[in-house]
Amino acid sequence: MTDEISAAIAPRVFSGVQPTGNLHLGNYLGAILRFVEMQKTHDCIYCVVDLHAITQPVSVWGGPKELARNIHEVTAAFLAAGIDPVKHVVFNQSRVHQHAELAWVFNCIARLGWMNRMTQFKEKAGKDRENASLGLYAYPSLMAADILLYRATHVPVGEDQKQHLELTRDIAQKFNNDFAESIAEHGFGDAFFPMTEPLIQGPATRVMSLRDGTKKMSKSDPSDLSRINLTDDRDTVAQKLRKAKTDPEPLPSEVEGLAGRPEAENLVGIYAALSGRTAADVLAEFGGGQFSGFKSALTDLAVDKLGPVGSEMKRLVADPGHIDTVLREGAERASAIAAPVMNAVKDIVGFLR
Ligand code: TYM
Repeated sequence: MTDEISAAIAPRVFSGVQPTGNLHLGNYLGAILRFVEMQKTHDCIYCVVDLHAITQPVSVWGGPKELARNIHEVTAAFLAAGIDPVKHVVFNQSRVHQHAELAWVFNCIARLGWMNRMTQFKEKAGKDRENASLGLYAYPSLMAADILLYRATHVPVGEDQKQHLELTRDIAQKFNNDFAESIAEHGFGDAFFPMTEPLIQGPATRVMSLRDGTKKMSKSDPSDLSRINLTDDRDTVAQKLRKAKTDPEPLPSEVEGLAGRPEAENLVGIYAALSGRTAADVLAEFGGGQFSGFKSALTDLAVDKLGPVGSEMKRLVADPGHIDTVLREGAERASAIAAPVMNAVKDIVGFLR
């Protein structure tokens, strides 16, 4: 066996958020709130994935000052939402060099055919695919490295990451198969990497744009009216919800009545997620009423739930000393887990060290 890691794989949660600005309600309900929840039952590692952020053109991620600011902002959101950086691990990806190192090994495991099927690459590259970075193409392979570097067994994410997690399993499986003999020889039995489980759970795994109920709420939507940012103040939230697209019918009294009404379904889903109730329960209260009344109730609820998170984020970002300490110490603890795993990978592959 290599160094001090055991052959048995213990349950562990890993997830990440890109520091690309405009953290929104979708990130919060689909991911960050789930991260907070998982702390109760698992050892968790939460990562600000700055290596992923630079896969887009500099004009998109904003350049060095903006990147540093956004790394602070995502960390602040983690802490403000209730992630405990003492009991769990919070750090930024680029500080732990093994992420890039394992990603290279995975670039040699993943097949072009697999990468060509990735829908997020197609969406992000758009029509001008020749001009997309090689990093954007390899993005899912780096993501697999993030997860498997800690041999993580569970990954809470929003619905849009499902395909990337399937790829992570394919990469783990192919590594385990390609190096089966060596894995056994080094004392790791018949599998070195776990088959990681995606956790795509809760009532808001896919929060949609406020301007178009068929498009997902996104950091990169040019219209700020399409999303509620975690740092929006009350007036901004109220204005965005007032302007949110709806249809002319009153709200239905039952969930079935939401079919074919994506904007109504989205707003009801957001209300349900923020209040911890079911959509049926929300419609039992608001069904038959006009959107205007529902929207003002939703504004009150959103401000009530997000307001404290947004103010705490602003407070933390204003004094980044604490955040810097959290990230530095988190990276040391992450490295202590990652280094022996990477060493084992090197031994398994046959590199000399
Ligand atoms: P990112 O930064 O785009 O999004 C962070 C998390 O927010 C979720 N999310 C949503 N959930 C519901 N509704 C939405 N509209 C919505 N928009 C975003 C995402 O699903 C994600 O969980 N590739 C990842 C970052 C990453 C990662 C990892 C995640 C890198 N390495 C390893 C897990 C494990 C991403 O782009 O996240």
